[in-house]
Amino acid sequence: MTQTNQDGDVSEAQIASHWREEERIHPGAAFISQANMADPSVFERFTEDRFPEYYREYADLLTWDKYWHTTLDTSEPPFWKWFVGGKLNASYNCVDRHLDEHRNKAAFIWVSELEDEEDRVITYQELYVRVNEFAALLRDFAGLKAGDRVTLHMPMMPELPVAMLACARLGVIHSQVFGGFSGAACGDRIVDSGSNTLITMDGYHRSGGMLDHKVKADEAVAHAEANGAKVDKVLVWRRYKGQYQSESPMVEGRDYFVDDLLEEYTGRRVEPVSMPAEAPLFLMYTSGTTAKPKGAQHSTGGYLSYVAGTSKYYQDIHPGDVYWCMADIGWITGHSYIVYGPLSVAATSVMYEGVPNYPDAGRAWRIAERLDVNIFHTAPTTIRMLRKAGPDEPAKYDYHFKHMTTVGEPIEPEVWRWYYEEVGKKEAVVVDTYWQTETGGFLGATLPALQAMKPGSCGPGALGIFPVIYDEDSNEIDPGSGKAGNICVTRPWPGMMQTVWGDPDRFVETYFRKFNKDPDSKSWRDWPYFTGDGATQSEDGYYRIVGRVDDVINVAGHRLGTKELESAALTVQAVSEAAAVPAIDELRGRVPEMYVSLKPGYEAGPEIVAEVKGAISTIIGPIARPAHVWVSADLPKTRSGKIMRRVTAAISNFVDVGDTTTLANPEVVEEIRQAVQSAKVAAGQVPKDIPQAMIDEIRRFGEDA
Ligand code: PRX
Repeated sequence: MTQTNQDGDVSEAQIASHWREEERIHPGAAFISQANMADPSVFERFTEDRFPEYYREYADLLTWDKYWHTTLDTSEPPFWKWFVGGKLNASYNCVDRHLDEHRNKAAFIWVSELEDEEDRVITYQELYVRVNEFAALLRDFAGLKAGDRVTLHMPMMPELPVAMLACARLGVIHSQVFGGFSGAACGDRIVDSGSNTLITMDGYHRSGGMLDHKVKADEAVAHAEANGAKVDKVLVWRRYKGQYQSESPMVEGRDYFVDDLLEEYTGRRVEPVSMPAEAPLFLMYTSGTTAKPKGAQHSTGGYLSYVAGTSKYYQDIHPGDVYWCMADIGWITGHSYIVYGPLSVAATSVMYEGVPNYPDAGRAWRIAERLDVNIFHTAPTTIRMLRKAGPDEPAKYDYHFKHMTTVGEPIEPEVWRWYYEEVGKKEAVVVDTYWQTETGGFLGATLPALQAMKPGSCGPGALGIFPVIYDEDSNEIDPGSGKAGNICVTRPWPGMMQTVWGDPDRFVETYFRKFNKDPDSKSWRDWPYFTGDGATQSEDGYYRIVGRVDDVINVAGHRLGTKELESAALTVQAVSEAAAVPAIDELRGRVPEMYVSLKPGYEAGPEIVAEVKGAISTIIGPIARPAHVWVSADLPKTRSGKIMRRVTAAISNFVDVGDTTTLANPEVVEEIRQAVQSAKVAAGQVPKDIPQAMIDEIRRFGEDA
């Protein structure tokens, strides 16, 4: 994670950014006149001297069973506690309390990937009934109670938020694993979280086909068992009630169809369990610098306050809007901005099962037109893909967005402009939201009615968030200096994760050690939170995120740890060493490429390449499948034996490899370069313009790995 100079590398602070300043674009009067937050006095309420009490404004959006006595307890740095003494229930806040006013309003309009299948509209009353019945089942059939963990491995079906809210009703901690992840990845998360129940589904539609999903449950349970964890019950929802879509047999005494079981629970109601604000609500696993994903633990009171507040002010959700966040609930974006945030402010949300370009590049816009969606939320990867597949499609449909969000990766100004002009028809504000799994909600974004947009920049810190950019020696980098550094947050905020599940030391080490001023300090001032991202700040205070400064590759907005990829590659018998690097990709931002060397007695060939790709898909999931696997006799290394990922990353991206004379084996660099680049030239895969940010990313890449 360091950018030391020992191998002649360029330190973070020395990297100048080469972006030109983009023009600022102001929101239109129509947006401002209806916005939830159009009063500039809000900035006076969220000043540093009002910390931490300013976040009462968010917490007061919720219904508390017992009001808190201490807004922020910082006595045990960096394990901050928000709204201490308060009690509440997340499912009550997302469902029950809306019934009086919004009983018959749609909470979710679920849209099948199949265009001729009917929508499933779930009103708040219907959601209430389903959550209660499933909570009764979890309590009485699965024996779950407050504090237990449950792993969910569900696709984008309404049963997923139902299951999450049923857990929350009981105080059970849910851990939803992205449906596209492999059975093994799910199994690892079962083991780490200590779940003995798995909730899954038989299958779902994806890119035009029915995917068998239950088979992954069998793999997950087997993998968990091989690692010492026993799963007692697998609860299997069926995509079509009563019709099993999977080839995989149901295991007697372990696997149960939820639709069958639910018959016994018809009409049952479960009192929401009043939970302390500090009780964990859920775990969300994410990749970092080690092979083992870490479970970001989010709280009930702080997290829910933060996502409610940001949904209201930043997403500008009103109960009358039709809001569509096209993310997957299996990621933090879906937890915060499909489920907990929107439901806590009584939104109507569209939930879509499939891929945005099925059966064609107009699908998303047809859904928007038909359902009259007016708030739209997606990722740069999807925007790039839709722009490429159908640049003129949005104009063909009569929908009108007032607000659009982007999340997950830096967005190129050209792509931003297409989004603004073509998708938003110049009517919608664009909010670029910068944040992370760990942060629960937005860190950097513009308040849409009050702060101008700037293509490619997320904006200033969100309300109450005061970021700072440090160089490697913890000196602050001044705004407008054009230098990139490590972006940190100087103060606690309620949406921030509480700890790494089961590993508090890792929490401290990963997010605080590097910029901690005094490990014995009891003052929050000495504990800035380190995001792991590089950023620059322009004169006007807007941040531009340049990418990860650690060993994480952001593929289509999803984080993959280089160590995770490498340890998956090392499960292949023939592989002796492996290095994962990011390669620039027109649509997905980055894709992983693997460099491997083989054990003696093994020959390079297409089988090895296929085996490495297969191992990574099976162990992590298809999302991690490398674009290329390059096999060579040796990998470039320092004299101390560290693999120089920076050099292989430069080769993959046709960037100058820099000075390699200090390496232990400089001769292999040229050999690898020729082999890789000639193959890419022959395949027409030479990247066109490598942005400076990517060159900077490569120079920093993996030096500490
Ligand atoms: O590098 C930043 C990038 O995505 C990382 C967080 O990924 P994840 O935990 O999976 O959460 C994604 C959804 C919140 C960050 O460390 N990132 C996220 N949003 C942006 C971004 N990079 C640039 N601009 C953004 N708006």
